[in-house]
Amino acid sequence: MIPDKAPKEDVFHCPENLKEESHIPSFEKYKEEYIRSIENPDEFWGAIAKDFFWKTKHTGRFLEYNFDVTKGEIFIKCMEGATTNICYNLLDRNVHDKKLGDRIAFFWEGNEPGDELTVTYGELLQRVCQFANVLKSLGVKKGDRVSIYMPMVVELVVAMLACVRIGAVHSIVFAGFSSESLCERIIDSQCSLLVTADGFYRGDKLINLKFLADEALQKCREKGFPVKKSIVLKHLSKEPEEVVGSQSPPAKRSCPDLELHWNPDVDLCWHTLMKGASDQCEPEWCESEDPLFILYTSGSTGKPKGVLHTVSGYLLFVATTFKLVFDHQPDDVYWCTADIGWITGHSYITYGPLANGASSVLFEGLPTYPDMSRMWAIVDKYRVTKFYTAPTAIRMLMKYGSEPVQRYTRKSLKVLGTVGEPINPEAWQWYYSVVGEGRCPVVDTFWQTETGGHVLTPLPAATPMKPGSATFPFFGVVPAILNDSGEELEGPSEGYLVFKQPWPGVMRTVYGNHERFETTYFRKFPGYYVTGDGCRRDEDGYYWITGRIDDMLNVSGHLLSTAEVESALVEHKAVAEAAVVSRPHPVKGESLYCFVTLTDGATYNATLEAELRKQVREKIGAIATPDYIQNAPGLPKTRSGKIMRRVLRKIACGEKDMGDISTLADSGVVDELYRNRCCTTA
Ligand code: WT7
Repeated sequence: MIPDKAPKEDVFHCPENLKEESHIPSFEKYKEEYIRSIENPDEFWGAIAKDFFWKTKHTGRFLEYNFDVTKGEIFIKCMEGATTNICYNLLDRNVHDKKLGDRIAFFWEGNEPGDELTVTYGELLQRVCQFANVLKSLGVKKGDRVSIYMPMVVELVVAMLACVRIGAVHSIVFAGFSSESLCERIIDSQCSLLVTADGFYRGDKLINLKFLADEALQKCREKGFPVKKSIVLKHLSKEPEEVVGSQSPPAKRSCPDLELHWNPDVDLCWHTLMKGASDQCEPEWCESEDPLFILYTSGSTGKPKGVLHTVSGYLLFVATTFKLVFDHQPDDVYWCTADIGWITGHSYITYGPLANGASSVLFEGLPTYPDMSRMWAIVDKYRVTKFYTAPTAIRMLMKYGSEPVQRYTRKSLKVLGTVGEPINPEAWQWYYSVVGEGRCPVVDTFWQTETGGHVLTPLPAATPMKPGSATFPFFGVVPAILNDSGEELEGPSEGYLVFKQPWPGVMRTVYGNHERFETTYFRKFPGYYVTGDGCRRDEDGYYWITGRIDDMLNVSGHLLSTAEVESALVEHKAVAEAAVVSRPHPVKGESLYCFVTLTDGATYNATLEAELRKQVREKIGAIATPDYIQNAPGLPKTRSGKIMRRVLRKIACGEKDMGDISTLADSGVVDELYRNRCCTTA
């Protein structure tokens, strides 16, 4: 299924100088290793496992699993019998065994240019141990869930690794999510503690995070789930003596105006707790399949799913994908622009880079603040060699042309990566030729919160690139394309993207709901993990993701379910029914087009529209803000009452030809909706 030889024409090749230092320097080598990873996973991953510390070795086979619902419960077990601690592997091993204590783990770059600090592996270990002791002193134990709701600061990494050190399970909620979303996630994973911060700036906008956290805790109390303690980091309102590390004066960052309500029964100050904490903390040795973290992702029913990842397999998978996909070398400076609140940040800001002893940039701000060249200013400032971002960011910067890019040299860059959604060939070309000046391979990495790490991806020195294709499977990953009847298609074909066997980093369950795990990913086609994405394989064997084939939308690289936006809308008293579909967007990839049917007596006007937007923002978060809202006195339905989304999608896109609408109960509805469709966003 992977061709013996890579195509020579109509592809972009890796520059020769990169091949010299590469881990996987040719397509032939990739293919050889790929076959080994599939035919002999025990040997392949066993060799990789030798790079890490195991308190006890695993017994039996490297991977055991059942992917077939008809044969019993779905399970994946990796390295059963082994015990380890990921925090120990990321920090102690690098500091003590590899003598990397003085190496910079993170160059923290604040929202405001000039606000910066560096943290070495040694310092990070110290602070993680201190915070681990803080958690222990508050009664947090192995297996307990801790919710983390923080901006992009070093303390976020400290909090997550402190959990890992004591075997607690972190559940990070992206700081852009609403208090309602935070509350829902805290309750779903039954978190006993919250770690949060006072606030932060996003560009010139001040976010009072503590206010949102307080609201969430209040909602938790109302729902009968009181969270006893909340640790609050003073990121903006820090006293001078509370500054830790080598930091420039955070003058522009401090914010005396931030209103903080301190609840002495619940709130604890991060800095006060840290002051008294010892920096020695024995790691808790965990079993391979002990839970590591929970991270929520949108589910098509509207309720987010708590994706659970476990210890050993995740560690090996993210460490290996990071090393090979970015061709990591000791002198690299790596920068992933994602937020740690998403899986990209978990795997490729915290776990993957630290497992490799890498030095990374941790950026708090926005690509557009204070101006359009901020990214390239940072690339030059830290001499970034490997750079990883999202197609939506590329498309947005592309609008401003090459001048803001060319203000900086970017000469340190060696590899460029993208993630989150399909990258359109124009954006790929711009990234490759303007940002990378044709000397940096672009790795278009396809993966999901569920897959833990990259599953389809080029390797920079091995895989000839085709703009828009995520190319071939990573080691250990076996993709297939199925038709509607679940038959595997061979050769060039298009259909459902599935995987035939697990790789070490695949999710193990939906937290607290194994049945939902089986239904969502394994029931449709027994024997396969179903991604929910459509995919095409071309004549050279390259895979091209064609987009979601379920009720999910991808807005700026973030998945949303139409159902969750609809249920936020119908919670407004003026809305009787809502239907949300996707409309292509030049920067965000997709945008939200919402049809709402009002309740009797309600009138549609600009005030209501603004209220609905606010409603969705408050229920879910700013990423889910509707782009278009249309008053729909009637929705196109079948005689059995099912909304015909296919028709709504056409209306949203302004397409006149509705296809077959003979099953429609009342076809007049369609003409009216089409006539009144929205053409511009709010
Ligand atoms: C969905 C997963 C993986 C981290 C960020 C998103 C889409 C992701 C690509 C890519 C085409 C992509 C898919 C996937 N997606 N990367 N390189 N090419 N599509 O994580 O929120 O779990 O979303 O994002 O549709 O299923 P996520």
